[in-house]
Parts: sequence; C-alpha cells; structure tokens
Amino acid sequence: MNQISNIGNKMLIGLHLGNGYGSQPGAWRMPGVDPQSYTSFDARVKQAQAAERGKFHFLFLPDGPGAVLADIATESPAFNLDVMMTLAAVARETNRIGLVATGSTTFNEPFNLARQFKALDVMSHGRAGWNAITSSGEDVAANYGKKIPSSEDRYGRAHEVVQLIQALWGSWGKDAWVHDQQSGHFAKKDQILPINLQGKYAGSRGPLYIPPSEQGQPVIFHAGGSPNAHELAGRFANAVIGAAFTIDDARAQRNAFREAAKSYGRNPDEIKYIPGLMTTIAKDRRTALDRRIQLAGESLAQRAGYLQQMLGIPIDVRRMDEPFSKEQLADARPSRYDPRSPHALKIAKEGWSLRDILAHGVIDYHPVIVGPGIEAADHMQAWFEAGAADGFWISPDVNADGIDAFVDEVVPILQQRGLFHQEYDGKTLRSHLGAPDQYGIDPRV
Ligand SMILES: Cc1cc2nc3c(=O)[nH]c(=O)nc-3n(C[C@H](O)[C@H](O)[C@H](O)COP(=O)(O)O)c2cc1C
Repeated sequence: MNQISNIGNKMLIGLHLGNGYGSQPGAWRMPGVDPQSYTSFDARVKQAQAAERGKFHFLFLPDGPGAVLADIATESPAFNLDVMMTLAAVARETNRIGLVATGSTTFNEPFNLARQFKALDVMSHGRAGWNAITSSGEDVAANYGKKIPSSEDRYGRAHEVVQLIQALWGSWGKDAWVHDQQSGHFAKKDQILPINLQGKYAGSRGPLYIPPSEQGQPVIFHAGGSPNAHELAGRFANAVIGAAFTIDDARAQRNAFREAAKSYGRNPDEIKYIPGLMTTIAKDRRTALDRRIQLAGESLAQRAGYLQQMLGIPIDVRRMDEPFSKEQLADARPSRYDPRSPHALKIAKEGWSLRDILAHGVIDYHPVIVGPGIEAADHMQAWFEAGAADGFWISPDVNADGIDAFVDEVVPILQQRGLFHQEYDGKTLRSHLGAPDQYGIDPRV
C-alpha cells in the first residue's frame, strides 16, 4: 500500500500562522489590525479561511513550546496561545486545509502527543500534521523546570518518541470499530492491543483508544536543517519546514533530506522540502518598501550595524536616506559567514537608500519579497524548477491583509503558469502532500 500519489509538477503552499498578527514585529501596531488579536480565535479562524480560499495545502504553527520573547514591553509573543487549541477551533470552521502544529519530542510524553494529534486528526477528518521537533534553547527548557538536554539525547529521544507515537496511532486496528447497536458489539478486542514498548528515553503501554481518521493517522513534519534533522526527517517525515536563502543552499538541503530518506529504504519523493518565504505584497516596489518602513519603525536603523558586518564597509546611520557611495560599493565584500550577504550587496548596488536596503528585508529569517505579486511568483517558480523546493511556507508581514494579498496577487499567477493547483483534489493532508498511506509504524524504517 505504499503507493505515492502523484502531485505532478505542482508546488505545495503552506501558511505560517504564528501569533496571528504576522511575521513582522510591528504587525500588531499596524492600522487596521486588532491589537488584541493575539487572544482572538475568531481572528485565527478568519486567517485560516483566507488561506483556504487561496487553496493553501496547510497551515503551519511553530512553537517553542511556549513563547520566547526578547521584550514583552514592546513585542508581541511569536507563538499561538496554544497550537492544539487553535487548530481545534480552526478545524471546525474550515474544510480542506491541512493543520500542522509543532509538538516537542523533548518536553512531552509520547502518549499525550499521540492522543492530542490523533484526536485533532479525527476532528478535522484527516487533516492533521505533527511537526516533530526536539526544541532548543534554555528558555524553553526553563518552562519545564529543566535544562536543555544534549543534542544526542534530544535526538535519541526523538527517534523513540516518533516510533512510540506511530505505534500508539496504529494500536486501534484499522477495522476494529464495529459499533453495532443491534448485536452490542462495540469493537474487535483482538485488534485494539497494547504496544508495550519501552526504550532508553520513553515508553508506553497503550493502547490508544482512538480509531483511524480519514487519512489513517497524522502526517509527520519536521523543521530544521542540521545533520540530526536530516536523519530524523529522512526516517519519519513526509514534509520538512525549511529555511534557505539561496537556490544552491535549498537544493543541497532538499537533496540531503532525500538522501536520508533513501538510506532508510524510502522513496525520496515521499519527503517534501518546503523552505520559507516572507512576503510584503503591494502594487509596486515603492509602496511595498514604504509599508515595510512603517512596520519596522525605529528598529530599521538598529539593523544598520549588522549590515555593516555583512558588507564589510563602514555605514553611517545618520545617512539613512542616501544610497551608498561609489567608493563604499567598490569596497563592499559580502561576508562569508552570512548567506544573506550577496543578496544584500546586490540590492545595495541597485542604488537604494540605506533605509530602503534594510526595508528589503535583507536581514530577515527567510528570503523576502517586497513588491508586486509577480515577484513572489517568479521567485517561487525559479526555486521550484531548479529542484530547490517542493513548495513554500509563506510568512506574510501582516496577516490581517497580507494573506489576502498573497491569495489575490500571487496565487492566480502561479495557477496561470500551471505551477499551483486550481482546486483541492483530495480531502486529507496526506492526499494534499501526495504522501503514501501509513497506519501505525512504517515497517521499512
Ligand atoms: C524553518 C524552521 C522552523 C523551525 N521551527 C521550530 C519550532 O517551531 N519550534 C522549535 O522548537 N524549533 C523549531 N526549529 C528549530 C529546529 O527544530 C532545530 O532545533 C534547530 O534547527 C537546531 O537544530 P538542532 O536541534 O539539530 O541543534 C525550526 C527550524 C527551522 C529551520
């Protein structure tokens, strides 16, 4: 039954749904944004519906777990109140879009994760995905009264936890539920069995009393790029939430995940590599830059110091509205230590002012499109056709209008070019991704 359905030559698109304001720190202060939407499940549902209108394949909710913050005095937390509660609310108000939440293998017991995700999968009629990550950082660990374990221990536990969870998902046999009111036969007892698994880091007896969903069980995602990530995702994941700044880097990442999948006896097409793309979509570049300038406020000038390191030239922050001089540009050398540097230099050479260079998002966490929809479509097409990505997760600057801007200005171009589906073909996340059927553990890995 390991048939991989062919999603053809179409790209996948997901939406980053973090705190609900958007990916730019200033999003919560933008005109038209409800400053209380951090606690508004109605806002989250509306954003999910906007993505579904654009036929996005999935929503992606990152998590620490728990908020990690630089300064609550001025900043909104980056994550949802609770990723599972949010997706439960969204599941009831959407029909097709996949629902992917992050769950830490380090700071959860496998039984809890198995239960919550399979319940979400049943509730959403087969649209749940679990982004299995190991968590990093002492500030997350501190929320649990712990220290962050070594990489070896985190990933050692992660391999066990994913297998335990999949075994628990499979512990209620596919056809075990009889629910015959006449005969009084509720379920086939011999098909709902304990798993009795105990590893070095975690264990569970089971069974988990949740029947299969329309897609059997949730789809596994992973987010990361380290060799450990390649290994974990190569073994278990059907999709990877990635971060890459250049086509070459993305292609190398994608190939590393595909090779890792092959080493576990899987078909490399079973794992989709999905890097991020941040968007500020407006009618033209100038309008988009002005929006970013408004969003960034004072913080733009604070970034000039880092740009100086990226380009290896002295920069005068008092000259925010002037382009670099010929001498500065002649002396500039992109830093070897930051993969964003060549792009930053390219933008600088186009003659933009220091303020505008920074407003292009040259120091952001992912490639940034600041301009009309066609620029986003061109970027996505180039990466997709170069074998650098199977799709993208989109991080709009401000969710309140940025999701609609992408849906109205980018999606139609991708559809016209035959790069993105016109309609949802299937009803489950597994079918959206073209992922093979799986129930319980994958016997190959
Ligand atoms: C695009 C992307 C998204 C990520 N999302 C999360 C997340 O939501 N929660 C989390 O704890 N870690 C997240 N990570 C971090 C990774 O899980 C991983 O911890 C990190 O890349 C460090 O690698 P290491 O754990 O192998 O040292 C993300 C990483 C990337 C590249």
